[in-house]
Amino acid sequence: MRNKVVIGNWKMNKDNEDALSLIIEILYQNKSLIDLPEIGIAPPAIYLSHFTEKLKNTNIYLVSQNAYFKDNGAFTGEISFSMLNSIGVKYCILGHSERRQFFNETDAEIALKVKQSIKCKVLPVFCCGESKDQRQNDSYFNVIKTQLENSLFKLSKEDFLNVTIAYEPVWAIGTGLTASANQAQEMHAFIRNEIKKAYNSEVAEEIRILYGGSVNAKNAEELFACNDVDGGLVGGSSLNAIDFFEIIKAARS
Ligand code: 13P
Repeated sequence: MRNKVVIGNWKMNKDNEDALSLIIEILYQNKSLIDLPEIGIAPPAIYLSHFTEKLKNTNIYLVSQNAYFKDNGAFTGEISFSMLNSIGVKYCILGHSERRQFFNETDAEIALKVKQSIKCKVLPVFCCGESKDQRQNDSYFNVIKTQLENSLFKLSKEDFLNVTIAYEPVWAIGTGLTASANQAQEMHAFIRNEIKKAYNSEVAEEIRILYGGSVNAKNAEELFACNDVDGGLVGGSSLNAIDFFEIIKAARS
């Protein structure tokens, strides 16, 4: 059975003092609870190293929001996957729609990042999602299929088993417009079926598919109850420890 995971993506939010307060509140909320799903925190990269200490011996894993696909070298401003691995980062979010939209990341570049991530033993959380126009003109299944084919399905089966997928419809990110449980389940089942076609049904059953896009304390339970929704990638609501833990509780089995 797939174990659920909830990852908080802080994006480019929280200065040092606020980031420290939030992680302390998160640790406090975490203390009294049992049977939790896997939890990940993706703070801005500048805090990762410091948070390693704070999260030592807890059930909360560190997640990077991005990294570059080269081993090392003259790439000013970038960080490598081996650097992430060397400080104990477990996951890296890749292909987020904000990276695609504002930093022109292409499917091909994301494919290189996914490969390098696996090579450096950092588990990729691969994001895919359609725009509002693509949802309205009914091309959304094709859009997701193309993203999966271009960036993931060339991986060997062994490598692919390291991937977690996050379906994040762009129209639902930061808008308060969540996909309905039916819309989420429909797309997650579609993605699982594409994995089955590209690999096999055992692989398809093992891969976790998270939902992201305006997940909050109110809608999380219904979304996470869907058969093919294995947790969430949470933006805005992860910036408040109490809300974030309401979402985490909704993912308890
Ligand atoms: P929101 O939860 O703020 O909509 O963001 C979702 C997201 O992009 C997580 O990666």
